[in-house]
Amino acid sequence: MTIITHARPNIAFIKYWGNRNEELRLPVADSLSMTLSNPSVTIEAEASDTMIIRSIEMNGEEKNLSDAQKKRFVDQFVLAKEYLRTLGAEDTLPSAVSLIVRSEIPSGIGLASSAAVFAATAKAYAEMIKQSIALTKAQESVIARLGSGSAARSIFSGFASFVARGDGIGDAWAEQIADENHWQLHDIVIAPEVEHKKVGSTEGHALASTSPHWSERVRQMPRRQKECIDAILQKDFEKLQHVTEEDCMDMHNVMMTSTPSLQYLNKETYRIVKEIENLRSAEHLEVLYTMDAGPTVHVICTEDALEKIREYAARQQGCTVFEAKIGAGADLVE
Ligand code: DP6
Repeated sequence: MTIITHARPNIAFIKYWGNRNEELRLPVADSLSMTLSNPSVTIEAEASDTMIIRSIEMNGEEKNLSDAQKKRFVDQFVLAKEYLRTLGAEDTLPSAVSLIVRSEIPSGIGLASSAAVFAATAKAYAEMIKQSIALTKAQESVIARLGSGSAARSIFSGFASFVARGDGIGDAWAEQIADENHWQLHDIVIAPEVEHKKVGSTEGHALASTSPHWSERVRQMPRRQKECIDAILQKDFEKLQHVTEEDCMDMHNVMMTSTPSLQYLNKETYRIVKEIENLRSAEHLEVLYTMDAGPTVHVICTEDALEKIREYAARQQGCTVFEAKIGAGADLVE
């Protein structure tokens, strides 16, 4: 039987950067994000004799996956089995699966597909075993995390907090702070350049602790996480803006001062950030910026500010612009 699931990327207000265990993707600190309404990634999964991983592009053409890319799916599957063993559900998943990944994420917008992909595979595995064990969303989130840390958050709709707990395989998962109807926020994604990033997040996490700013970052994280949760629950945009921008620039400071240095932001990023700050103060707009491991600026705003931000984004020559709002968690495609 083929199971079809889909999931979407998320954008973090409080960033996940640094693991206490790289293989198990156990974060050092908590993080917090908003799941986006689009673009979505669909997974078709079925039991198979061997692991087969295929990726089909939007135009219907098959994309060649590298061995490293395929290995990531295999690793998640093997770790999912290991985790299920700790729940007493060891032989519930088949010995191998065939996966077809279809991503609607346009290339060059700097939106990583991994969070959506591994949340969708986790949902598919949960669906495959539901006659034997009904997993909770927290348990689905653990399985998503085993493929990509930030995928733990894409299991949930709306706002999700990814909480670092202990050192065991099941010791970190996300939980929902508020659903997608709580606060209508929009993400206008402005991507200045199409360039493949040199060091991906998975490898980048391992460098975090080499930065002299790392221990101070870890010290500040619980306070920021709490402020961010409060801001969301109170729908206090100004508070959300302050803590999000503070955390984003702090993560990039850690990245830039790590050994080797990771420089993800470019001149265009800084220009857009400055212009958003100017626009915000000149027009009193509820708008904030945040960047992940790339030069793409996520300009997040309320309904009231949306038109002005859209107009600004449309004026950005040479940039790819993409728009999403707050969205749904990983689910079955009926
Ligand atoms: C900077 O380990 O989840 O986006 O390697 O793409 O799976 P992948 O990324 P992941 O790290 C995400 C890091 C981040 C911040 C965040 O999303 O919290």
